Amino acid sequence: MGSVDWDSRLFDSLVPLPDGTSYNAYLIEGSEKTVLLDTDEPHMAKEFMAQLEGVSKIDYIVSQHAEQDHSGIISQVLEKYPEAKVVCTPKAKGMLIDLLKIPEEFFITVEDGERLALGDKTLKFIYTPWVHWPETMVSYLEEDKILFSCDFFGSHIATSDLFVTDEGRVYEAAKRYFAEIMMPFRKVIQKNLEKLAPYDIEMIAPGHGQIFPRPKFIIDAYHEWTMGTPQNMVVLPHVSMHESTQRMVDHLVAALVERGVRVQPFNLAVTDIGKLAMSLIDAATIVVATPTVLAGPHPYAAYATFLANALRPNAKFLSIIGSYGWGGKTVEMLAGMIPNLKVEIIDPVLCKGVPREDTLSALNDLADTIVKKHKENGFI
Ligand code: FEO
Repeated sequence: MGSVDWDSRLFDSLVPLPDGTSYNAYLIEGSEKTVLLDTDEPHMAKEFMAQLEGVSKIDYIVSQHAEQDHSGIISQVLEKYPEAKVVCTPKAKGMLIDLLKIPEEFFITVEDGERLALGDKTLKFIYTPWVHWPETMVSYLEEDKILFSCDFFGSHIATSDLFVTDEGRVYEAAKRYFAEIMMPFRKVIQKNLEKLAPYDIEMIAPGHGQIFPRPKFIIDAYHEWTMGTPQNMVVLPHVSMHESTQRMVDHLVAALVERGVRVQPFNLAVTDIGKLAMSLIDAATIVVATPTVLAGPHPYAAYATFLANALRPNAKFLSIIGSYGWGGKTVEMLAGMIPNLKVEIIDPVLCKGVPREDTLSALNDLADTIVKKHKENGFI
């Protein structure tokens, strides 16, 4: 059940959705009890409620995650099935009361590992916190060996194919989603993966994107992403106003490539911020390139730096390059914006006006330093 959202291009007014998304819900009809697992995004209410026509009873609405793209229609479902109970973690209960004003008497809270008997089928609830909120859990349908995972293992893809058909496409979309909302919690998510390891999972049914008939593919990918092992790669978010900073970027990119370092430059004036987030999973070094505007970094560079700080990637080194006209505190301001990053700052390269030979030479030195640091740390 649920909706394919072909047209949305932005989630939470933040996350780009180049391929739209889907909000997946699941109806499980046991021989005695019927469960609705999650609901839908509020603006899909009409479509979702139409899907429930012909469903004579719902005993339980399992809410695996309180965010409204999955919980947003619980109130309407309760209006139609007033005898139904909302099953969730104690934390989710508080959030659903706060967010949706669902009256307290509708709730049954479950402990980690608790089971819900549906007759010939059994759901087991497993707490998997911080994917990407504190209350998240997954549900394992024991007889069918299906793991319902909500955001966990999800991907923003709108498609008419229910099951994964192109793993490459899903890998990229799922990695992007992991980077955008889960990267800061990767250590906890690693623990969640360990917790799921003993389960015999034949299928993963997420809350966004397609169902995985080969779960190993996405579980392996999550192991890789949660490890966050830095690679011999520089992420270079940049913005320029009169091409001086752009010339510095072009020179540094060429110098790094010449030295065998992979570079991912992102022009912040046009970039998809989701791709930038995704590249931060792998990069050993971040170089922010910005002109000085009003005595500080360009707002686009400040935005990218703020985002990187919030996402807490595992990058080990950071530097800043850019051109200024008359002065300012660009380096100090950017350096003050990254308290969450455990990075060593490599000496910035700033130049007054158009870059000249001395600046280009300093950029070559910066490329040499990055190579040296990557080698010393085993990233090459
Ligand atoms: Fe798909 Fe965190 O909601």
